[in-house]
Amino acid sequence: MNMPLAALPHELLDPKDCPFAKDVIAGLSQQPKRLSPKYFYDETGSKLFEQITLLPEYYPTRTELRILRDCGAQIAAAIPENAALIEFGAGATTKVRLLLQSCTLGAYVPVDISGDFLNDQADDLRGDFPDLAVYPVTADFTTPFELPPEVKDMPKVGFFPGSTIGNFDPHEASAFLRSARAILGDGATLIIGVDLEKDERVLYDAYNDAAGVTARFNLNMLVRINRDLGANFDLSGFKHRAIYNRDRHRIEMHLISRKAQTVRLLGQTFSFRTGETIHTESSYKYSLERFAALARGAGWESRETWTDPDGMFSVHALVAKPEPKT
Ligand code: AVJ
Repeated sequence: MNMPLAALPHELLDPKDCPFAKDVIAGLSQQPKRLSPKYFYDETGSKLFEQITLLPEYYPTRTELRILRDCGAQIAAAIPENAALIEFGAGATTKVRLLLQSCTLGAYVPVDISGDFLNDQADDLRGDFPDLAVYPVTADFTTPFELPPEVKDMPKVGFFPGSTIGNFDPHEASAFLRSARAILGDGATLIIGVDLEKDERVLYDAYNDAAGVTARFNLNMLVRINRDLGANFDLSGFKHRAIYNRDRHRIEMHLISRKAQTVRLLGQTFSFRTGETIHTESSYKYSLERFAALARGAGWESRETWTDPDGMFSVHALVAKPEPKT
């Protein structure tokens, strides 16, 4: 959100001018109700997510870091000398720092919707790698954006760690990969982190942690809607639940209404039945083959894949397939 929502009285907030308000109203008007996971990450949500990554049950972050560390030299070998590394949705710089230990980049281009955080992280990185050119881009990486002119003649390598692609439904994941192919251009490489299918109990526990941090992370979406959009969600009226949907290969996070209730939001009323859910997130899990097939259909060929010894998580190097001449 670029608008200082808190500064505006909610009666004056016109959903037409506020994508967040528009999305929330549209999502709560659907059957089943839904909210986009991209709205988890306000300040509190980002802190809660960081806590999630440290939970004993939440294996993805530490496993991906382990792969980036253990296979760093091989991954770096898939990155051409003096390439521009374009990170989609750059949060913390922990992961790119691991790559920087084994390869020499021409430039680092972190792309994120949140400009302030992005610029702070860029400054920290410049401090630690004085020879590295850093060109942050403030943009929504799911839509087309321009690369900085400085990297025009460098080989392009996209970097999309964290299995963020798991938040996209298959058609959205495919659209993202196509769009990345268009932005990065011919000859590009894409290094992407993808969470793998595994024992359902392990998946279940990773999203229903004993300490209840994931529950707070999920419920914080309602806290945010109350604060930023002036809604009156009763937080004790909803509970967190994550289930594994085996047919669709995805974890689903839901907020379940504990009672029949109504919620007011920007002049509209939304009713909930007892047990009715708001679907807040899907986290897709892939097999190596299913992910390679998805990538192939979106213009990318699999070059190499790395996993941890237990096969929990994967990192893929994809290369752009030549565009068919028309
Ligand atoms: C950041 C999308 C990879 O799906 O595992 C963690 C978000 N949600 N616990 C994931 C998340 C609940 C996370 N991703």
